[in-house]
Amino acid sequence: MHIAVLGGDGIGPEVTAQAVKALRAVAANGPQFEMTEAKIGDAAFDAEGDPLPERTAQLAERADAILFGAAGTFDSDLRPPEQRGGHALLRLRKRMDLFANFRPVFAIPELAGASTLRRDVLKNVDLVVLRELTGDIYFGQPRGIHVEGGERVGINTMRYTESEIRRVAHAGFQAARARKKKLCSVDKANVLETMVLWREVVTEVGREYPDVELSHLYVDAAAMLLIRKPADFDVIVTGNIFGDILSDAAAMLTGSLGMLPSASINAEGKGLYEPVHGSAPDIAGRDIANPLASILSAAMMLRQSLGQPEGAARIERAVRRVLAEGYRTADIMEDGAHLLGTEAMGDAVAKEILRLAD
Ligand code: NAD
Ligand code: IPM
Ligand code: MN
Repeated sequence: MHIAVLGGDGIGPEVTAQAVKALRAVAANGPQFEMTEAKIGDAAFDAEGDPLPERTAQLAERADAILFGAAGTFDSDLRPPEQRGGHALLRLRKRMDLFANFRPVFAIPELAGASTLRRDVLKNVDLVVLRELTGDIYFGQPRGIHVEGGERVGINTMRYTESEIRRVAHAGFQAARARKKKLCSVDKANVLETMVLWREVVTEVGREYPDVELSHLYVDAAAMLLIRKPADFDVIVTGNIFGDILSDAAAMLTGSLGMLPSASINAEGKGLYEPVHGSAPDIAGRDIANPLASILSAAMMLRQSLGQPEGAARIERAVRRVLAEGYRTADIMEDGAHLLGTEAMGDAVAKEILRLAD
């Protein structure tokens, strides 16, 4: 099994290295992985003049799965797209048609104290945000900054085709069918035509899944309910921009953005696995980032792309054990816990994975 490892920028390489350690620990008693690293993001632009070098894109396409870190920095975010590290990720998602982005959010009882929310609100939280990843205002044309009537005008276009909505809706119903059989579609159909179509198509697709309870919410109300009664949600299916925002907000249900993994899958089942967080320039290079989102993304990769559910379960159990033993990175630190850096947390999880194999 061949894994493309694209660490990227900022804390991306730091956390990805810990996920690689976890995969090596799984491989010690089982499946063998060949892992090939390549540059992406600002790191690739600085070295080769392109944030997504063709070699990196082809490596990603050929691999059985992709482990991705983070791309972009605040400085490069304001450059033209072709010089922007973060844009490499958008290009790769589009090029590989990775339209279904699963972002699971689950309460870990040991981390209840790390959240800014009350413990009773967090109880039984187990939801998935399914974010459409290759359409919407992220990619719609026309776009750009023009001069009109003597002043600058910024333009982006929210756009979805029926077939784009239909395929992600199917993915949502199928995910719900395998879970608690509830799908909540989040839109803004009271204002935007794109979202009127979204609601119509999701409703049509829903007729094929009579066993799944379908509900609809406007995104503003959904944001509130996600914080008020998060345990009521099962699968949330939504567009690219709303899913981006809602999933970062939902990070507080687990206690930290450093805890949320994700899988981005295309129609052939090929997947890119990455933490939901970004390159975190504010903490990069200090060995303090939480690597658990990346490590848990590697577990999702084993389950969803590499047919290794046991390896995945072993990583997830190891993470829970390390947390239960009181080890924490700074973002989830509490009184009385043992503070670990990025590397040390990666080592602790890898050690536990090896122990679980005995
Ligand atoms: P961010 O997710 O990088 O960070 C937001 C906050 O969360 C920061 O305070 C950061 O320190 C903290 N944080 C994030 N991950 C953490 C971890 N693993 N452990 C501990 N704390 C963590 O978002 P941002 O600061 O808005 O963006 C920084 C850069 O990353 C920007 O250039 C942005 O475009 C890019 N970005 C990339 C991706 C990606 O590659 N998938 C995702 C989001 C943002
Ligand atoms: C994410 C990020 C990206 C997005 C950026 C870096 C382009 O925020 O993966 O959530 O907006 O999709
Ligand atoms: Mn985001």
